[in-house]
Amino acid sequence: AAPGWTATADVIVVGSGIAGLTTALRLRRRVDRVLLVTKTVLDEGSTAWAQGGIAAVMSPDDSPEEHIHDTLLAGVGLCDVDAVRALVNEGTDAVWDLIAIGADFDRGETGAISLTREGGHHRDRILHAGGDATGREISRALIAALDRVRDDPGIEVIEHALVVDLLSDEGGRVSGVTLHVIGEGQVDGVGAAHARAVVLATGGLGQIYASTTNPAVATGDGMAAALRAGAELADLEFVQFHPTVLYLGEGSTGQQPLISEAVRGEGAFLVDAEGKRFMQGLHPLADLAPRDVVARAIIAKMRATGTDHVHLDCRHLGAAFLEQRFPSIVERCRELGFDPATQLLPVAPAQHYASGGVRTDLVGRSSLEGLYACGETSCTGVHGANRLASNSLLEGLVFGRRIADDLTRRLAAGELPQPTSVGQVPSTADRPALVRGKRRLAVQRAMTAGAGSVRSRTSLAATQRRLAEVAAADDGKKGSPKSWETTNLVHLGQALALAASLREETRGGHVREDFPERDDAHFLHHTVIRRGPDGE
Ligand code: SIN
Repeated sequence: AAPGWTATADVIVVGSGIAGLTTALRLRRRVDRVLLVTKTVLDEGSTAWAQGGIAAVMSPDDSPEEHIHDTLLAGVGLCDVDAVRALVNEGTDAVWDLIAIGADFDRGETGAISLTREGGHHRDRILHAGGDATGREISRALIAALDRVRDDPGIEVIEHALVVDLLSDEGGRVSGVTLHVIGEGQVDGVGAAHARAVVLATGGLGQIYASTTNPAVATGDGMAAALRAGAELADLEFVQFHPTVLYLGEGSTGQQPLISEAVRGEGAFLVDAEGKRFMQGLHPLADLAPRDVVARAIIAKMRATGTDHVHLDCRHLGAAFLEQRFPSIVERCRELGFDPATQLLPVAPAQHYASGGVRTDLVGRSSLEGLYACGETSCTGVHGANRLASNSLLEGLVFGRRIADDLTRRLAAGELPQPTSVGQVPSTADRPALVRGKRRLAVQRAMTAGAGSVRSRTSLAATQRRLAEVAAADDGKKGSPKSWETTNLVHLGQALALAASLREETRGGHVREDFPERDDAHFLHHTVIRRGPDGE
């Protein structure tokens, strides 16, 4: 179908979490026309759901070397050291900039910023806001900064627009996106936006699994569009399962309530069905071991005891402290019938974060000219096989600045010319068969069963078969946004299962039942997936 409308800009930024907003706001000051596109409303993505906080070296008791060390240790040998150095060394200034635009982090009685600890950190370096509503405050501050420049012709915002595919010009450069405006959008139907560069900051792919901490919008749209356009994706197999997600029963699917790691940072601990602690002795940091270690220990405990959850004991922290320090978590638990001040909380691991994504260099450039990726959508190499807690908001912030600076320089130098032709919206014949929106649960079940927190060659093959069946079963011909989302989940699921089958070892967020050991001799490298021209 021909686009119903078109827009042009110098740079299109897709996504309005910390990564997209940081990039767009910084670009606006230096580039003539920035177009910011978001699938629903500005604050609906994962950023606003972040509880624990944002990690940065803010205290004289801490040092960049220690933050770098903890990040590398959590990443189990697969972090890119230069990317981690950039993250940490620029992280402190980036956080101060965030404070300067209005982000209000919690402070102690003396006015000093309060810092807490999470899994894998050897120092207190997590800033938080509203107790456990850090992401919401960061999102609020960034959107307020955007509101202050809304009248500026240098920035245009389109909400309710799903990015479907990338456009390329005659030189093969990425030159825009096709968009499907949903429901309440300002403009209707299918459109196209053309630009000198595109930045994908669409967040993660949590909805690929039946149970996740991610909101419903996290359907990997940017990663899937990049995959279809032939960009390299890296480390997709490293999916982080958060250890402590409130367990609401087997049938509970979709976004599940997170119990922040910061609760353990303040002294809560895990216990088994008999009330016994089990993390002590398994790791020197016990309940605050890196996330992959804790999630794996919980899964082992659940298997050994034939249960589907363990418990988090917060009772000794007391109602007053819990209510003051974790108001949102306590409220949500109580709404669901659990009181953390008096009861053990049933918890189990659930999908939380995609450590891999669109492979980029240190300034966010992907393998396709003109295409950048930022935040959870990207794989900069800072997370390796397992992201260190609270490094994700920091990554969006630091690399958003880096991307904006790189684009500013390149645009000024004329390195990214206007597209030589306006790319065509792919014809129906070129499009992949679309999977109906209502098949989402079938995709989620296939991924959870065979490519979830524990995988094997057999289980991954079964997932691939099931995904192929789901994809073949029916064709969402109308190309509705829901069917595009489900199609994105299928395409990414296939790539993820392939990456997971290639890595015949256990490392970080990737656990292979048939290869339970880490194998540095053969697998100390990234898994890079790229679709060939035939779509394979
Ligand atoms: C949490 O609050 O436990 C999540 C923090 C993170 O994912 O980095």
